[in-house]
Amino acid sequence: MSKNTFLVVANWKMNPLTLKEAERLVKNFEGGIERLNKRDFWEKINLIICPPAIYLGRLGRGKHYSLGIQNIYSETRGAFTGEIAVRMAEDAGARYALIGHSERRIHFGETDEQVNLKLHACVKSLMTPIVCVGENLEERNNGETTRVISRQIRSAFHRISILNLPKIVIAYEPVWAISTMKSGSSAEIDDPNDIMGIVILIKKVLSDIYQKDVADRVRIIYGGSVNPTNIASLLEVNTLSGVLVGGASLTVFDFLPILRKAYGREEE
Ligand code: 13P
Repeated sequence: MSKNTFLVVANWKMNPLTLKEAERLVKNFEGGIERLNKRDFWEKINLIICPPAIYLGRLGRGKHYSLGIQNIYSETRGAFTGEIAVRMAEDAGARYALIGHSERRIHFGETDEQVNLKLHACVKSLMTPIVCVGENLEERNNGETTRVISRQIRSAFHRISILNLPKIVIAYEPVWAISTMKSGSSAEIDDPNDIMGIVILIKKVLSDIYQKDVADRVRIIYGGSVNPTNIASLLEVNTLSGVLVGGASLTVFDFLPILRKAYGREEE
């Protein structure tokens, strides 16, 4: 995959409610992309769909896009009712794994330590981990964003070998910018300048732990209310390697324009 490939990660969360709907959605994405008639589309866009885990093995593996799992467990096997091991996710077709999504941290009490254990489990596999970090509204209002992000990165990467860095993706997803965390219908994303600052911060923290040249190459993506309207301003943040899309990845109407604009980003 070329280094200019832009990651577009669809996090479907706990949607849609049937396999049939999930299949239809994927089919419609593929049809829409086909109709764009861009022969180099798949060289420029790396589409990763993260459906609910139960659909993974049943959702046909696409020729072009990859599948991801929304969460994994850190243990390799055993008496952990309800959990999914990395090997199982791989076997079901997942090539990517979201780790430490804020909804896991908030609703299921996932700690920085657990995120670190999950990352260790994932880097031992062939899957690409997507480690999610981001401050909540209170932390932001208290001016704690830098401290929170630094802590989350330092903990997540504790004892992770530098050799694993090139394959890890980091998603900066401020909790307050996630569409379902907001009241009303505001489609506010983080200010592109702030996002640029966070990308620099994450690379700085990684270069303190590892070394600058390797840290600079780590791919960082942004998530939080990405939609067809605001994608253009995110594409201007040229240090971003992609986007993580929640709600807008659940309809072709919203998702296709995001893919189309991400494809044409160099011409924007
Ligand atoms: P929204 O795009 O709906 O804000 O969700 C973001 C998200 O949490 C993706 O992981």
